[in-house]
Amino acid sequence: MRMISIQEYDRRTMQLAEPIIDYRKRILLASGSTIHPKYMEKLMEIGIKSLIIEDAKSVGITLDEMIDMPTWIDAISSVEIAFQQVRVGKEIAINELQNTVKTLINEVLQRKAIILIPTSSIDEKLSRYAHAVNVALISLQIGRRLNLNQLQLNGLGLGCLLHDIGKALTADPLQHPEKGFQALKSNREISLLASHIAYQHHEAIDGSGYPRGIKGNDILEFAQICSVANDYENMISKDGIQPHEAIERIMALVEKKYSHAVVLSFTNGIISYPPGTHIRLNNGLFGIVTRIDSHLHRPIVKVQGISEEVDLSEQSTLFIQKVYNDDLGVKQD
Ligand SMILES: [Fe+2]
Repeated sequence: MRMISIQEYDRRTMQLAEPIIDYRKRILLASGSTIHPKYMEKLMEIGIKSLIIEDAKSVGITLDEMIDMPTWIDAISSVEIAFQQVRVGKEIAINELQNTVKTLINEVLQRKAIILIPTSSIDEKLSRYAHAVNVALISLQIGRRLNLNQLQLNGLGLGCLLHDIGKALTADPLQHPEKGFQALKSNREISLLASHIAYQHHEAIDGSGYPRGIKGNDILEFAQICSVANDYENMISKDGIQPHEAIERIMALVEKKYSHAVVLSFTNGIISYPPGTHIRLNNGLFGIVTRIDSHLHRPIVKVQGISEEVDLSEQSTLFIQKVYNDDLGVKQD
């Protein structure tokens, strides 16, 4: 199983490893199927840019660090309902969201790290809610590395699922944090801490953020966590940036946008090179990442022409020099 961009899809060699879901959460194409060229247009129309596929190259590669698709879709659904409730001025029914948070915490605790399903792999009408679920997953992963307790993880998860809820009330990007805060604050079942995640998730440590331009420790740690997760998620899902580069971009803004402690916990819980990534090593050989074992940033790779897998965590002189979106890049190099 591996992730590809839709342009790389080749129906002669690839089958879907995960279903494609429409905005009503119905299965458009089941796993195991191939995509007819006519259908490709339809998928592009609804904004699908990434596919999770199986082919000869991905045999034996599993994405164990990825959340199960049905669980992900259920979580997306619960966020969508909350957005609809806020949009029509109803109180958010908090029970379902709390169940979602519990599920997401379990998903995070049972894995050593999280690989995101990009929001570009489902109908774009759901991408806003899928983004919220992904931000919650990354935030919970950070929270766990910061040794937050169960109660704190609950608050963090809920606040992150609802961090952009203000977007249900305004199209103005600069206003959504405050609108969200007001909507959440008025709900007695939602903690003030969770509400402040919505309010502060675009603030920056150096005061250059918005809406208030608050600085340093005035920004709650939960909001700092959400900020890192939010930016990382956008880089992966919206901008199509490779994980190792997204991690580097986050690290580049330590003590400017993000606090050191939060970024350290982030890098300790995220994978630089997900299984299925095509790579070239510094010895000139090409390969594909097959698994993550003891080191999140030093994967196990299958190298061309070598029958045994190479565990980079045991090889102090081998480095990943280049990452390719697909093996087309390898041929052109
Ligand atoms: Fe936001």
